[in-house]
Amino acid sequence: MMTFEGSHILSVSQFDREAISKILTVSAQMAPYAMRQKRCHVLEGAILNNLFFEPSTRTRVSFGTAFNLLGGFVRETVGEENSSLSKGESLFDTARVISGYSDVIAMRHPKMHSVSEFATGSSVPVINGGDGANEHPTQALLDLFTIESEMKPFGRTLDGLHITLMGDLKHGRTVHSLSKLLSLYNNITVTMIAPDALQMPDNVIATLENAGHKVILTNTVEGNLDCDVIYQTRIQQERFASPGEADLYRGHFSLNREIYQQYCQAHTVIMHPLPRDSRPEANELDTDLNDLDNLAIFRQAQNGVLVRMALFALTLGVENSLTKYEKPITWYTNKAG
Ligand code: CP
Repeated sequence: MMTFEGSHILSVSQFDREAISKILTVSAQMAPYAMRQKRCHVLEGAILNNLFFEPSTRTRVSFGTAFNLLGGFVRETVGEENSSLSKGESLFDTARVISGYSDVIAMRHPKMHSVSEFATGSSVPVINGGDGANEHPTQALLDLFTIESEMKPFGRTLDGLHITLMGDLKHGRTVHSLSKLLSLYNNITVTMIAPDALQMPDNVIATLENAGHKVILTNTVEGNLDCDVIYQTRIQQERFASPGEADLYRGHFSLNREIYQQYCQAHTVIMHPLPRDSRPEANELDTDLNDLDNLAIFRQAQNGVLVRMALFALTLGVENSLTKYEKPITWYTNKAG
């Protein structure tokens, strides 16, 4: 199995099944801290630098929350215009400097492979929070954690699942990373629903097929939602040459309760990495799905805290010391149930 301590987390290609199992196990151990049943200060004094050079709500805030929940401090840089990258400083030099101020760095950047380039200059672990249309490894890990936990009540594991990926599969880095992780499991069927021009890149399809999985490519929703998990995605407007080009595809695959009831199984779980585009012309996941038990999108986003806590614990080598650093919760909370 890979050594986590001191390692960068840049791509899902780093992981084998054993490594993923370790991450998911440690993630589950983080639930009492995230649910405010007790505190853990195992990273007290440690510093996370969160560098987000592209917009983010969930990834940036959950990285910071995860680090705080383990007792660490968080410093943030948001937007390239607020960094000396905008003065021509290289990613390498930036990494040499910022890693001197940090114990670990989480970074998002609009350019593919930029986080790996940055990591070459860093003396501390760097975690990829999304690099252009390339990868979003921590999202894929939290997606896998979510699929596993959502399927457990139905007596199902990841092996043998039928998962439907839908939307902008060309530019959506979350579906690239998730597909590569799924390829490590057994007997998976993946239906990919996208406009022909936004279908999954060939190399991702090949990764699944070469691992023996069944891939179905289609541009039609009707008749293709009879699956265990629907993973809806956003049209990634920021990756198109112009917003007008993205408009051509917005709203093609809106999912609402009527479509769900007509085409899905009773147990089909709906996921989305979020943000969902709720503007009327897109309406990717209609609000009439909000009170459906099988809508997992907010549980999925919450799981991001657990998985990112686990990655900090593993890369900083404290995953076996959590219980030694526990304290009681002394304030009002409604999370503990
Ligand atoms: N899922 C995700 O990456 O969301 P943000 O862009 O809000 O971080």
